[in-house]
Amino acid sequence: MVVALGASPATRRMPNLIQNAKAGVYFARSLYNYKRGRAKPLSAVFVVCNRCNLRCKYCNSPFLKERELSLSEIDTLFTNLQHTGIFRLGLTGGEPLVREDIQEIVKLAIQKKFYLSMNSNLLLYHERPHVFDEVKFIFTSLDGPPQVHEKNRGKASQEGVVDAIIDLRRRKKPVVAICVVDQQDFTDIEYLIDLAERHDFKLHFQLRGSMPEVSTKKVLRGQLAPQTDNDAYRDVWRKLYMLKKRTKSIVNSKNYFEKILHWSDYHQFAQKTQNKSCAAGYGYIYIASNGLGYPCCLIKDTTQGIDLLTQNWIEKFHDKKPCNDCISGPYLEFNLLYKNPLASIVDLMAGYGRG
Ligand SMILES: C[S@@+](CC[C@H](N)C(=O)[O-])C[C@H]1O[C@@H](n2cnc3c(N)ncnc32)[C@H](O)[C@@H]1O
Ligand code: SF4
Repeated sequence: MVVALGASPATRRMPNLIQNAKAGVYFARSLYNYKRGRAKPLSAVFVVCNRCNLRCKYCNSPFLKERELSLSEIDTLFTNLQHTGIFRLGLTGGEPLVREDIQEIVKLAIQKKFYLSMNSNLLLYHERPHVFDEVKFIFTSLDGPPQVHEKNRGKASQEGVVDAIIDLRRRKKPVVAICVVDQQDFTDIEYLIDLAERHDFKLHFQLRGSMPEVSTKKVLRGQLAPQTDNDAYRDVWRKLYMLKKRTKSIVNSKNYFEKILHWSDYHQFAQKTQNKSCAAGYGYIYIASNGLGYPCCLIKDTTQGIDLLTQNWIEKFHDKKPCNDCISGPYLEFNLLYKNPLASIVDLMAGYGRG
């Protein structure tokens, strides 16, 4: 859903309403097709590069050796995505800001009229603030107070990040900070909530995980540590759910929390359940830096990529996936939206729209 954070002045309301109406139309079309077993994705995430200025302990991206598309190939890719009917395009990495031509990539996306979001660790924000001029929605990362964040993400990895968020909010850009839930204790979480409330941004809590059960890769840095106790981990999520009732800054939906609280083993991120079909490939797609498209990033090495420079997703997609149910942070909210649209829309509007 496209919902505007902090959109109170009347001058800002109109474009947001139009944007939300447009999102609604694209979503309705995508949902209609999904219910009939046909792919009509409305959202795509494109990895502009795997290169990164950090080496976070849970992240595989900087270790992937995939080629990057040139600017003219990206132009072709975006044209093809536009023809596929994509509404929302997310640019991610690696770290998008390490790509010298990121501003040109943003320009190409805007020319195609995508609703554009970007994930960035914001470490290079102060050198390149104009990259965000036309980006509608920004996701960044905050794992806790500086010492906790640095334990996960490396030395000086939070330097200037909060200032960048403050500046983005001054520019009326909606910002959601993703917090990977791992070893933080509760004061770390409360610290984040206090920071978000003070500076008027939002928080999305995300399970730490990867997909050893459906992955063939040897290097997998994402997994939850084997010694992590399921009940203790569930307890952290239960407390987060309680906090959501107290603060406007947590955007995870109620259904998202319910799903996570009822998951039996957090070390197993995904499963195959009979008579179920997740929305991966139908409602959203993931595009690796080399232009190959996949239903989602977690099954990239166990499903065949579709070359989106030369092929059309809708024609080539087939639902051969190693799993169909998961608690993966980026996808769970989307899957709930397709499974239970009305309740999810209300839920998400409540999270993203208020404040
Ligand atoms: C891959 S990063 C790309 C954008 C940017 N470099 C950043 O860190 O914000 C996108 C998000 O994925 C999260 N992430 C990376 N590995 C993860 C894992 N194994 N489990 C959960 N979240 C993860 C990061 O914390 C970040 O918020
Ligand atoms: S999480 Fe983001 S900043 Fe950290 S290594 Fe991965 S891509 Fe880089």
